[in-house]
Amino acid sequence: MKISSVKGTRDFYPPQMAVRNFIADGWKAASRRCGFEEFDGPIFEYLQMYQIKSGDEIVEQLFHLTDRGGRDLAIRPEITPTLARMVNEQINALPRPIKWFSIPRLCRAERPQKGRLREFFQWNIDIIGEESTLADAEVIFCSIDYLRSTGLTPKDVVAKISSRKLLAALLKNLGLAEDKLSVLYPILDKKAKIPAEAFTEMLGKEISDSNVIHTIMKLMDLHNADDIAGLVNLNEDAKTALAQLQDLFKTLNAMGIGEYCRFDMSIVRGLAYYTGMVFEVHDAVGDLRAVCGGGRYDNLLKDFGGPAMTAVGMGMGDCVLEILLRERGILKNDTLATKTLDYFIAVADPTLADKAVELAAKIRQAGFSCEFPYKTGALGKQLKQASGYNARKTIILGQEYIQDRQIIIKDMTTGQQQVIAEQSLSL
Ligand code: HAM
Repeated sequence: MKISSVKGTRDFYPPQMAVRNFIADGWKAASRRCGFEEFDGPIFEYLQMYQIKSGDEIVEQLFHLTDRGGRDLAIRPEITPTLARMVNEQINALPRPIKWFSIPRLCRAERPQKGRLREFFQWNIDIIGEESTLADAEVIFCSIDYLRSTGLTPKDVVAKISSRKLLAALLKNLGLAEDKLSVLYPILDKKAKIPAEAFTEMLGKEISDSNVIHTIMKLMDLHNADDIAGLVNLNEDAKTALAQLQDLFKTLNAMGIGEYCRFDMSIVRGLAYYTGMVFEVHDAVGDLRAVCGGGRYDNLLKDFGGPAMTAVGMGMGDCVLEILLRERGILKNDTLATKTLDYFIAVADPTLADKAVELAAKIRQAGFSCEFPYKTGALGKQLKQASGYNARKTIILGQEYIQDRQIIIKDMTTGQQQVIAEQSLSL
């Protein structure tokens, strides 16, 4: 019986692994540039953890299981709840602000589609314990700093930024009750993802007044915060939230990434726990799903039994990102090396095969990477093998060694050869 892989999962053969590492290395470098420390948690947690605060969409997509002790568990669909749990457990010992990053493997039982799989990797950066908009700006900056480092420009990606606090104040001004808001957020989040009629129909099920629906639809299309007042009265909460957003944009401009950022009222986010600034990075053309998304979540730690503690962060998956990097020509097939070597030892005389083994072991012990041929064939073939392995240098063992204990060192980039005594090989 032939067993195939599960739909929505990927096999990482060495070329795909090289791409995964290329992406993860960039994420790690950007995290460290911005002062984040790495953490990780378990691949599964209690099912309840995601039922408390992630929202219905995530709960519907959980891979869950019951262990032999009858405990309900779930494979992590995101790492933010784990982060909240872990920080709560050591809250008094951790110096604040806590700035952590992680690159977890996550699973969501989604319908696989372009940029969305059932198993993926997601870069997370989070700042806990800092309420100023500087922390919001840092999270957006670090996300853009990474994307910029790959070569993506404001023509390729855009960070769309809004505020749930602002949206909540405006919706309340339109006469909607507080407890209605958590039902409306996941619907509003779907605006760009589903056909217009389906969207209005969903809104219609929750809101009976068609004028209110009309105003909400207009609000969702706003890209200039100054236009809000023309649609809805600004109460004190809305004014405070707007001032915070203006502050944030000022900082983003000062950080030199203003060109990548714009206000967009349609960004609401599907997850239930966001309470303030929310943002998503999209490809500028708008063909793909979000590259990343995040925001401020001020109640999650408290909801998990910890103290009231402000937090802000984001998650960036590897799927849409890889598509984008390929579409922009930044990632090309087979350009990433799956293997590199400091030395390859070629054997020009078969009687020196044992010497090659001995020398390779010595070179490795000195901390360099080195390979030798398991079967000695024509020298040309061995040199080809060395190039295929991306060896920086090839050591050739031949007549010079038999006569004078000398080796040939060939620089594989310049092609230059040097004959030196074996002892002078500087390891
Ligand atoms: P999220 O919007 O659910 O947020 O996911 C963030 C990103 O993860 C998405 O923009 C996308 O890049 C990637 N992603 C999500 N689902 C899939 C999938 N099925 N296949 C491939 N990629 C996917 C969160 O997960 C929040 N926990 C992020 C966060 C961290 N908020 C604060 N801190």
